[in-house]
Amino acid sequence: MTTPTTPISGFQVYPRLVRYTLKYWPYLVLVAIGLVTSSATQPLFAWIMGPLLDKAILQKDASVIKWLPMGILGIFLLRGLAMFLSGYYAGLIGRKVTKTLRDEVFTHMLRMPVTFFETTQSGKLLAYVSYYVDQVAAVSIRGVTSLIQDSATIIGLLGLMLYQSWQLTLGVLLIAPPLTLIIVYATKRLRRLGHRLQNSVGDVTQIANEMLHGYKVVRIFGGEQYEAARFSEANERTIQLQMKQLVTELISTPLVQFLVAVALAIMVYIATREATLATLSPGTFMSFIVSLLMLLTPIRNLTQLNAQLQGAIAAGESIFGLLDSETEQDGGTRVLEHCRGAVEFRDVSFTYPSLDRPVLRHINMVVSPGEKIALVGKSGSGKTTLVNLLPRFHNIDSGDILLDGVSQRDISLHSLRRQLAYVGQDIVLFNDTVRNNIAYGDMRGMSDAQIRTAAEAAHALEFIDKLPQGFDTMIGDNGVMLSGGQRQRLSIARAILSHAPVLILDEATSALDTESERHIQAALDRLLENRTTFIIAHRLSTIENADRILVMQDGEIIESGKHTELLALGGQYARLHAMQFHEDETAA
Ligand SMILES: Nc1ncnc2c1ncn2[C@@H]1O[C@H](COP(=O)(O)OP(=O)(O)OP(=O)(O)O)[C@@H](O)[C@H]1O
Ligand SMILES: [Mg+2]
Repeated sequence: MTTPTTPISGFQVYPRLVRYTLKYWPYLVLVAIGLVTSSATQPLFAWIMGPLLDKAILQKDASVIKWLPMGILGIFLLRGLAMFLSGYYAGLIGRKVTKTLRDEVFTHMLRMPVTFFETTQSGKLLAYVSYYVDQVAAVSIRGVTSLIQDSATIIGLLGLMLYQSWQLTLGVLLIAPPLTLIIVYATKRLRRLGHRLQNSVGDVTQIANEMLHGYKVVRIFGGEQYEAARFSEANERTIQLQMKQLVTELISTPLVQFLVAVALAIMVYIATREATLATLSPGTFMSFIVSLLMLLTPIRNLTQLNAQLQGAIAAGESIFGLLDSETEQDGGTRVLEHCRGAVEFRDVSFTYPSLDRPVLRHINMVVSPGEKIALVGKSGSGKTTLVNLLPRFHNIDSGDILLDGVSQRDISLHSLRRQLAYVGQDIVLFNDTVRNNIAYGDMRGMSDAQIRTAAEAAHALEFIDKLPQGFDTMIGDNGVMLSGGQRQRLSIARAILSHAPVLILDEATSALDTESERHIQAALDRLLENRTTFIIAHRLSTIENADRILVMQDGEIIESGKHTELLALGGQYARLHAMQFHEDETAA
């Protein structure tokens, strides 16, 4: 499945990455000083070969003999210090950039539209904050340092060579055009491989993630072999791509070095001709050769860097594509403090972006503040979809939804969502304490007394008090340490604690026994007197007291009224009721 993000080209990536690095410019200056110093020691070392041979060995110049050993030690000491300086700050910048990028990607994802999460594999989303960011950030700083260091070394060495003999240097530069060709080809190939590798790593994460979430189903239905094979296949694909990357790198580096050897050969050929020999001292010639040999390393580094850089740029294309993609549109400017809870659906139709048939058609309803509305209907009739439109998770095709007479589109998203409390069909709990799970988000910092009251109303207190650390008990990943009903009661407590004027309960009590359900129902009736409530329930016995029952079928409201009225009508509701009543009779 593709990710709906903005496409971005490699040319834009590097400058943007560099901009992240530039934020830490004081550190960068230190890195640069260290790098330039340590690079300068290279031509310095090559240069020292000159006096070594000419003055110390051939002419036996005493002063030169004295300072030369000190000079060699000094050069290496300086080099060591400079390398520490640049290494330390480069590492620091790299980690800071990683953190910034990771934070930005995470924060951006928090504001992406719901559709983004519905259409992107979760494995890929996880890979964004882990693999992609690591790829980019680690290499970006290594790229900058190597770029500075190796380019500076190359420039220094070439400079020295030009100074010693420009004729020879020009001979060396003959290899520039084929060198460029090799590098351009390798670059293109590596970038392509980088993208494929990302997808393949995304698949690996996806499969692992699915297994971790579904381990019980995997075990019971004997999916181990299938999962293992699937995982191993994705892993194998990753390795193959990595090997292709490696081979490209391994071929291009010696090719480049071979070209440098060609240059060396050309140079030796030119240098050994009579005319040239006359103008060069053996010392200069020696130092020229050392310079040329020393060129091999930075050139190799740059070719290898190119390989890693292409992977990083491919990851950067994805990351910046995500960062540039549009977040949830929030056109609303009206801020509601605490609305009364009047809700109106005006001829609302809605189609999921991935479907071509509307899931809701011409929904009309006017709900007054404090009214209890029950939604019933067959599975797939659109109940959950309907209540999910209230927090504007999706944009509707046509019609309007109003809160206190204000169109949903005009209310700022944050303010709109603060008016709603929600207990969904799948319970979401965080790996945190009971207290923090109830007082989540905007409710952080509510008093213990308030939290206790909410827990009591949700009939959660009875089990919370039995937990080892009461409200401070950690409940594990999505509340694994709790039973289904306990988890549901915690999320009901969360909804009760939020004093939002509109409450949505989607199958909120389905995991409870009849008695607990009755108790909670009673507590809710008392507590939610002045809150507008939408209750979705399959068990009709729980919604008999609703002020109004809406019966849905195929995305339409087909019946509406009180329990007794609908029974008298003898339509769909009466049929559903008769069936459940019959089931209860036989079960009893
Ligand atoms: N994210 C989605 N993308 C595409 N189609 C969806 C999505 N969610 C639901 N649907 C489709 O919309 C229709 C209504 O789904 P909805 O979840 O609203 O039903 P429901 O009445 O709540 O059913 P249930 O009682 O089983 O919870 C279904 O046909 C379903 O396939
Ligand atoms: Mg549903």
